[in-house]
Amino acid sequence: MNMNKASKLRVLAAYLFSGTLLIAAGSANAGGDVEAGKAASATCAACHGADGNSTIGTNPKLAGQYESYIVQALKAYRSGSRQNAIMSGFAAALTDQQIADLAAYFSSQESDLQTVVPK
Ligand code: HEC
Repeated sequence: MNMNKASKLRVLAAYLFSGTLLIAAGSANAGGDVEAGKAASATCAACHGADGNSTIGTNPKLAGQYESYIVQALKAYRSGSRQNAIMSGFAAALTDQQIADLAAYFSSQESDLQTVVPK
């Protein structure tokens, strides 16, 4: 096949454009949905607080935590590489999408963590 320069460019443009679409679609799937995460977070609220600002010292605050940290922690509980009797049970049932949604929700909440100023 002997393509002229213009048709080669068209093929290249089509190739690059389809690649861009694939990348865009991929990141849309990987990203969590805040609203879906909020709905799924009802299970977590008793311990971590409805907005992730836990008021119980033994339960970590999740509000404002890095999204990637929450994803990583939940996957670690699910796989057993991070062990905790309570969280293993909750993480075991979560899908990758639910984990992404929960992480999107809690990371989008404002944290009430404060720096304690020494007197
Ligand atoms: C019965 C109480 C309880 C419930 C319900 C619960 N958690 Fe936890 N969660 C804990 C405790 C306790 C820890 C600390 C465990 C440890 O030391 O690893 C924890 C830790 C975590 C961590 C790691 C935080 C960090 O700073 O490393 C994440 C993320 C998390 N939980 C998310 C969730 C999500 C999402 C849900 C709901 C699907 C949930 N938890 C439900 C008690 C709970």
